[in-house]
Amino acid sequence: MLKGKRIKFAPLDRKHIDKFLKWFNDPEITQYLMMYKPLTRDWEEEWFNALKNREDTVHFSIVLLDEDDPEKIIGNCAIHNINPKNRACSCGITIGEKEYQSKGYGAEAMEMLIEYGFNTLNMNRIELTVYDFNTRAYKTYQKVGFVEEGRKRQARYHNGKYYDEIIMAILKEDWEKRTRE
Ligand SMILES: CC(C)(COP(=O)(O)OP(=O)(O)OC[C@H]1O[C@@H](n2cnc3c(N)ncnc32)[C@H](O)[C@@H]1OP(=O)(O)O)[C@@H](O)C(=O)NCCC(=O)NCCS
Repeated sequence: MLKGKRIKFAPLDRKHIDKFLKWFNDPEITQYLMMYKPLTRDWEEEWFNALKNREDTVHFSIVLLDEDDPEKIIGNCAIHNINPKNRACSCGITIGEKEYQSKGYGAEAMEMLIEYGFNTLNMNRIELTVYDFNTRAYKTYQKVGFVEEGRKRQARYHNGKYYDEIIMAILKEDWEKRTRE
């Protein structure tokens, strides 16, 4: 499995479902995501079971490299919407364990995910969307080389207000240039 300096990627496991239920039912986290409905164990298990037959998505758990706790899962990330003809895909990430947010793990995981997208999946373009009030995520994506391409104005309704959805992407040639420099 992919290994970084402080984290590694592990396959998603049924035993991680409890964590996902905790993270994805927490409004502090879901405010930044597309999901907004309460998530039940049934739905999550159904989603998990369906994953093995899907060719358009690859999911990873983000695990801390910690000798004392080799099973410490702090988040997950994924490549979605894999389009082999255009060699394009989208991606997403959540550092669900809040005490591990804003400590550089998100940027490290994104760098690993980008490398996987370009070097293993042979993608040419990886895109994502981020809500304009999610400054932390925007900064993280910029830091690893994503550039803003456009905005869907007032695409997101949250807490009584509309917000823009920002489209960001990184191309393989941008990434190769960055890794050379
Ligand atoms: C977005 C997320 C993946 C980022 O990962 P992270 O490990 O928390 O972020 P990092 O520590 O790698 O980087 C955060 C950057 O944002 C900055 N930052 C942190 N909090 C911030 C804030 N409130 N406002 C603006 N910038 C902030 C940090 O300074 C850092 O930039 P720097 O290294 O240049 O100083 C993670 O916070 C998360 O999962 N959040 C909840 C779910 C979410 O938003 N998912 C993404 C949906 S698009």
